[in-house]
Amino acid sequence: MSHADESHEGTRRDFLYYAAGGAGVVATGAAVWPLVNQMNPSADVRALSSIRVDISGVEPGTQITVKWLGKPVFIRRRTDEEIAEANGVDMSELIDPDARNANLPDGSDATNANRALDETGEWLVQMGVCTHLGCVPLGDAGDFGGWFCPCHGSHYDTAGRIRKGPAPENLPVPPAAFDGEDTLVLG
Ligand code: FES
Repeated sequence: MSHADESHEGTRRDFLYYAAGGAGVVATGAAVWPLVNQMNPSADVRALSSIRVDISGVEPGTQITVKWLGKPVFIRRRTDEEIAEANGVDMSELIDPDARNANLPDGSDATNANRALDETGEWLVQMGVCTHLGCVPLGDAGDFGGWFCPCHGSHYDTAGRIRKGPAPENLPVPPAAFDGEDTLVLG
């Protein structure tokens, strides 16, 4: 393989990696940035502390990743199987019994219902930052069918709860609310 071919391959691999990991960033960024760019600098800061995300294109079994306050946020639309799996976990099996959900009172239990954003349990919104040392976990991965952090081997379940590995806490659920069926407001 020539040097030129190798460079091409490297670029393509990088592209595929980012495309797989953050397909939603492109779509969401396109929706958010034109609005922000029309504002003055102080308004920019205010806008970034709260963002609106179009979730109309998120199919069951997929997730998008958006950037909020400089950090990735995973927005997953779970399948019935993922919800059932999360519901089936006994609380005694959890490493971290705290819901870590900014939308609930401190100390709420880490039940599946307390982790999800809606009553059906379909929407799971959480920071995409491993609670061990801050790597970005991979979706649809790990021993519990949720997320896997390859940095030191932390496994999260389909509700984003830490189940195995060095991470001490569940992935935090940020302040989030729906505005209609198609829009999620973070912050
Ligand atoms: S940063 Fe995720 S396991 Fe260490």
